[in-house]
Order: sequence, then structure tokens, then C-alpha cells
Amino acid sequence: MEKTNIAIVGMGTVGTGVARLLLDHGDRTSRHAGRTLWLKKAVVRDLQKPRDVELPDGVVTDSIADVLNDPEITVVAQLIGGLEPARTIMLDLLEAGKDIVTANKALLAQHGPELFNRARELGRSIAFEASVAGGIPIIANISQCLSANQIVSLEGILNGTSNFIVTQMDERGASYDDVVRQAQKLGYAEADPAMDVDGSDAAQKLAILAHLAFGATVDWNDIPRVGIDGLAADDLTYARKLGYRIKLLGVAKLADDGLELSVGPTLVKIGTPLAEVRDAFNAIRVIGDAVGPVFYHGLGAGQMPTASAVVADLIDTAVGRTRLTFQTLEYFSIDQPPRVKLRDADTLVGRYYFRLPVSNHPGTLASIATVLAKHGISIASVIQHETSDEADGSNDPQIDPVTLVVMTHEATAGAARKATLEIESLATVTGPVVRLQVKD
Ligand code: NAP
Ligand code: HSE
Repeated sequence: MEKTNIAIVGMGTVGTGVARLLLDHGDRTSRHAGRTLWLKKAVVRDLQKPRDVELPDGVVTDSIADVLNDPEITVVAQLIGGLEPARTIMLDLLEAGKDIVTANKALLAQHGPELFNRARELGRSIAFEASVAGGIPIIANISQCLSANQIVSLEGILNGTSNFIVTQMDERGASYDDVVRQAQKLGYAEADPAMDVDGSDAAQKLAILAHLAFGATVDWNDIPRVGIDGLAADDLTYARKLGYRIKLLGVAKLADDGLELSVGPTLVKIGTPLAEVRDAFNAIRVIGDAVGPVFYHGLGAGQMPTASAVVADLIDTAVGRTRLTFQTLEYFSIDQPPRVKLRDADTLVGRYYFRLPVSNHPGTLASIATVLAKHGISIASVIQHETSDEADGSNDPQIDPVTLVVMTHEATAGAARKATLEIESLATVTGPVVRLQVKD
């Protein structure tokens, strides 16, 4: 049987999973590829560090030159995270004539045009299914399976770590810090978990999907984003009482005046499919003008789901399918102007949840309602629980703080943002206001 020699660069969570699939299930990969996928080299940084997979003699090396200088190795799974040295290694591998498979969305979201153009110039390919939503084949679906459609909207849970954290806090009352540590242990989190919890990872994935689905060329830093790091357990509790669960949603929606893009924690109505997505699962709801709504659900983070996507790309690359799509689809071409412009974030319309720490004084609620009304925001409901402090009647804001939760009718993001700033400046508001979007 014909053989394709493969190398893995970066033997962390994902690299180890890829090695396992190649070594333990060679029969499966050969059957699908019609050739043997032979793991010839695995490049690590530290030869002494124990790995969770037994590599045959001679495979492991700490020298990237062993891959660059080996003409028999034609396909490389580049599984180092972050920007550098991942970018330089990727360029060196392309120059050395290797086709690349990667899971590194941070790198693609930041340096996609440079890397993809160089690959094209050199007649090479880059496959990146694992870079978005782990085991869900969303890249292939958007760029190939749904290619008869104009995608109208795409919204989903794109970060497994954040979803794991909010699920565990909500369902088990776990503490934020404990669940972040657990997500790291389980291999869900990025090397720097701040990227997961502050919405950056989801924004990078949304930028990639927006490019594929809408031809948008967007700097992921320009996508308005809020993470789950500012959420309190109280927000999850209030959301549940109101009939919602909080999910970190990435949204891309096409309108006449451009493309709406945003990432943020959102109250999602219980009973709707996105609200039921738990733990490290991801889900994406795509609407195409011909196909209608399509819903994808699966594990978006973790060793084997991600390795599943990487190995499928290795097979596609080994048999030549990737090169065909890579050349015809013109991913991230610097020569192509963006097909769509971004909408001004302030004009986006939605409902809002506000949680406000306020002093329990006469007129507090009226002053907040006045600010909301001034910005054209109509109140849909209000929650304020009695507290034991109220009973002592001291009327001292430091002694009598209460929580006010306000749900609004539809308003523009700009009005909600300005109202928040104004409300925070009121003497009766004792701390930062939490403002979240609502999806019914
Ligand atoms: P990881 O566990 O931190 O593994 C990265 C590996 O790269 C580490 O083993 C690290 O070595 C190695 N490395 C760093 N610099 C190197 C160098 N110069 N030469 C050789 N090896 C080097 O990360 P991961 O979770 O596997 O993620 C890898 C990539 O996949 C990231 O881009 C991530 O965003 C993406 N991804 C991850 C998941 C997931 O669920 N984990 C899912 C989808 C995509 P040391 O062990 O010595 O530090
Ligand atoms: N850290 C990422 C997440 C890995 O939690 O979604 C998958 O891209």
C-alpha cells in the first residue's frame, strides 16, 4: 500500500490525541485514505517530558530540522498554540514543501492572509477544520456542503471552556476558579485560559467563520466581545428564574446594511436548542437561503474530538482533496476585497438584562427608569427581592445595598451602552452594572 509520511509538531493535548489515532487506528485511516498514514516524526520542545502516548523508537525529536530536511515527510500537523514560534515554523514548513494541517485559530485569525497566500504561492495547502468548534466539521460544511447557499446567519457556542464553566457553575454551584482549573486539567482550555474566558477565542473562531460564510475580512480584535469572566453566580441564578440560561454566543448576521458580528454572554431561552448545549459541547445554528436552518452540535474542545478533525484533515491532505479545495476556494486571499462591510455595533437591536447593585432608597428605581426612558429603552420586567437589611430601616446605602434586575424590550446596543454609563454614574447605583443580551 502507498504510504504518506506525516509529522506532528507540538505534542500537547491535541498532538498526543492525533498520534494515538494514527498509531492505534492505522487500519481505519488507511481504509479511508487508501494509503498508510505513517507517523514518521513527532517534534517536542522537551525530550524528557512524559507524553501520554507511546511513540515508536526514532519518532520523537526536539529538532524541527528533522522534519524540514526530510523530503519524505510531505504532510505536517502543526499543533503548537499561540502566535510565535507557530507562525515562523508554519512558514518554514511551507517553504520546505510540506502541506499543513492545523488547529491553531489564534494564528489563522491573526496571520491567515499571510500564511494562506504564501501557501498558495508555493503550491501548498493548509487545512484547518480543527481550528473552529473542535470535532464539529463546520469548516467543511460552510465552505463546501452549504456552498449553494447565501448564508444569512450563523450563531453559536464556539468556546468549549466557557460553556463548561457556565454549565458547572449553573448546575453544580461550582466556583469559577475551580472550574477554570478543571477545564485546564481536562485539556479544554488554551495555554492562556484568559483567551477562553474573555471571549477572544470565540471572536477568533467567529472571524474565521465570517470569512468563510460571508467573505468578511475582519480583524478579530474589531469584533465587539465580552467574555464570561465578568459573570457572577447571581447572573446565572437570575437568568434561570427568568427562564433563560447564559451562554457565550458568537453571532454573525447579514442585513441590508452589512454584517453584524458580536461575541458575548447572552440569556438564551430555556427549551431552545442553544440553551440545552452543556459542558464542553459547542453548537452552531446556520441559516442558508436555500437549505434553511441547520444545527450542528458536538464536542468543541478536548483531546480526541479535536484530534478527530485533525486526522480527517490529514487524510484529506494525503489523498489530495485539501489541495483542490484550497486552490479553488481562495481562503483568506489578500487580492480579494471583502464581500461585505461590518455594521456599526451601536445600531444592533436586541433585548437586554441589567443587574444593578443599588442602595435601597426611595426613588432609586424611578431614577433608573428615567435614564432608560431617556434612551428610548422600555422596561419589560423588574426583580428586586426584599433583604433582611431592609428591615433595619437604616437607609444607609452601604448597609442596605440591594440587587435590581431589569429586563428590557428591544433597544439598540448604542442606547443600552449609553444608558449603562449614565446609570453607573447615579449616586444610588453602588457598583458596576452587568448588561447582557437576551435571545428569545
Ligand atoms: P498544548 O497542550 O499547550 O500543546 C501545545 C504543545 O506545543 C505543547 O506540548 C508544547 O510543548 C508544544 N510546543 C510549543 N512550542 C514548541 C516548539 N517550539 N517545538 C515543539 N513543540 C512546541 O495545546 P493544545 O491544547 O494541544 O492545543 C494546540 C493547538 O490546538 C492550539 O492552537 C489550540 O488553540 C488548538 N486547539 C486546541 C483544542 C483543545 O481542545 N485543546 C481544540 C481545538 C484547537 P510543551 O509540552 O513543552 O509545553
Ligand atoms: N480552548 C478552546 C475551547 C479549545 O475551549 O473552545 C477548542 O478550540
